[in-house]
Amino acid sequence: MQVINTVKELLATATKIKAEGKTVGMVPTMGALHEGHLSLIRRARKENDAVFVSIFVNPVQFNNPDDLRKYPRTLERDLELIGEDADYVFAPSVEEVFPVQPSEVYDFGPVEKVMEGAARPGHFNGVGVIVRRLLEWVRPDKAYFGEKDYQQIAVIREMVRQCNIQSEIVPCPIVREPNGLAMSSRNRRLTPHEFETAANIHRILEESRQLPDVPQIQAFVEERIAAIPEFRLEYFTIADDSTLQTVQSLQDAAGVMGFITVYVGEVRLIDNIRYK
Ligand code: PAF
Repeated sequence: MQVINTVKELLATATKIKAEGKTVGMVPTMGALHEGHLSLIRRARKENDAVFVSIFVNPVQFNNPDDLRKYPRTLERDLELIGEDADYVFAPSVEEVFPVQPSEVYDFGPVEKVMEGAARPGHFNGVGVIVRRLLEWVRPDKAYFGEKDYQQIAVIREMVRQCNIQSEIVPCPIVREPNGLAMSSRNRRLTPHEFETAANIHRILEESRQLPDVPQIQAFVEERIAAIPEFRLEYFTIADDSTLQTVQSLQDAAGVMGFITVYVGEVRLIDNIRYK
């Protein structure tokens, strides 16, 4: 595996690989890799001739400076974990990616305005800014993203459509800890007690699948989350899996999912579950 730090070298490498007629898979990350990321990288390895991983803590997608400051940065360990599962790791500085402060303003429509988009103003614009650059530089045939960030995938699909990017966006299933907690780089900020308590998020969502319809599910999840003193619910939204707009009944859409954001102590965790 080769580490690339400059955009110039990234462009030259991607152009050479393409000229050799190889298929290219890409896994954009912000580092602090865990088994969830590694599952994306291994899938990219299986489905493509060449694999690029990017490791870049993108400042323009953080609406909270404290969150950006505390985001774990573990490049050496990340490179060891990737090993030979990727051919190239793009790990640039902020100045390399943004020689000037980016000024693009996107409108990704209704999928962007709800849930994480409403809770974190500017977040998805910042995701669009970086993912567009990465996909335009590498021009992968396929780019892989985890379904824990389900709304992010919807926004990236819309960005790719609006910007005529030819890469296929490949959603990949959530990878969970043995206790059920969705894997996340933020989990390492939980105390051991919080880590165990956080497993209740998935447990409660799983139990809610037994309920007959939206009002009962909504009430059950809100009550059960409120009963755990370490939790503070930011939102629990039951929505159409393609438009991401709220539904009143499971009959309102072909696919329906629940999306949750919970603070466990000081750590903000997201998860989701499919109802149909
Ligand atoms: O999901 C992430 O880690 C980030 O939002 C992404 C897609 C790498 C863009 O910075």
